[in-house]
Amino acid sequence: MDDLESRLCEMNLEILSLEEIGGAHAGNIYKVEALSDNENTREHYIYKEFAEGRDQEVEIYKNIEEIMTPFSRVVNVWETSPQAMLMWDLGYPVKARYEALPIAEKKILISDILKVLASLHGMDTGQDKLPVHQLNAEWKDWCLDQLGKLGSRKSWASPQWKRTIQEVYERLDIPHYQTKCRSVITHGDPHLENVFYKDNEVWLIDWEWAAIGSPLRDVTILMQDIYDEELISYVPEFYLQYMRERGIYLDDNDFRSDLSYLYIDHLTMMLAWEVEKYFQGHLSEKRIREIIEWKIEEIERVKTEGMDRKNKFSY
Ligand SMILES: Nc1ncnc2c1ncn2[C@@H]1O[C@H](COP(=O)(O)OP(=O)(O)O)[C@@H](O)[C@H]1O
Ligand SMILES: [Mg+2]
Repeated sequence: MDDLESRLCEMNLEILSLEEIGGAHAGNIYKVEALSDNENTREHYIYKEFAEGRDQEVEIYKNIEEIMTPFSRVVNVWETSPQAMLMWDLGYPVKARYEALPIAEKKILISDILKVLASLHGMDTGQDKLPVHQLNAEWKDWCLDQLGKLGSRKSWASPQWKRTIQEVYERLDIPHYQTKCRSVITHGDPHLENVFYKDNEVWLIDWEWAAIGSPLRDVTILMQDIYDEELISYVPEFYLQYMRERGIYLDDNDFRSDLSYLYIDHLTMMLAWEVEKYFQGHLSEKRIREIIEWKIEEIERVKTEGMDRKNKFSY
């Protein structure tokens, strides 16, 4: 940790304690308590050191620093090896306490997150500063692969799960879908482990996948973390209404079409990721089974809606 020590020293910070945050991460993440020589105060930071080839977030930060600043609490970024980022410690991700909240409070919290996403989506940027998000077969392939591994290890894994994924991607031709809503800046990964609530504000971390895309990209990544029917149907309606109140009109058909396709792609992506967390020992068998069953049912439900819409509009 010599790099960290000398980097903080240059900022007149002296390390008091250092603790690695465990979990399935794309690099090493540390909680740092440091003494500020200037202010003589104890400060709490998170130091994120990127793994080789997973340092896209540094590039993104360089390109859209002024856009990220109001939404995140980045203190410093190092572009030399090892690439790293220093942020204020924002406490625990929303996910840590979300499940235990009563539904009314979940609704308020989700609405606050959607407002923040909407304000990100309303920001102007030179379109060339970020990659463009395009649907493809990547999440389907990864998910089929993960479910294949699960099937070979666990007798409770149903072969029907893979068939559901395969069929929905084929029937709706998801990898070739072109999003219809006007493109905006999207965070690209606002699931509840990347969202924080501190000092009465919502903060977004982990901008590795930020890209230009449909606003439904973010909305649906958030939705796949909400295991409640009523709240799931509330999310897009609230977002649509909120955007309209802000004078941003989204065509209803475009909105609902992007919603179906992106929601399925993100349910699939996160299904694969949750299986990975299970393989790495971060989820119980009971929980992964609940998650898979819920996500597969959601995919089936949305597929039916998507097929109905496809048939209706092809006449
Ligand atoms: N600023 C922060 N404040 C508090 N915890 C953080 C912060 N940044 C990261 N973490 C913790 O580290 C985890 C992983 O960080 P993240 O940037 O999302 O990396 P990854 O790309 O591996 O998901 C987060 O889910 C959170 O638990
Ligand atoms: Mg993350």
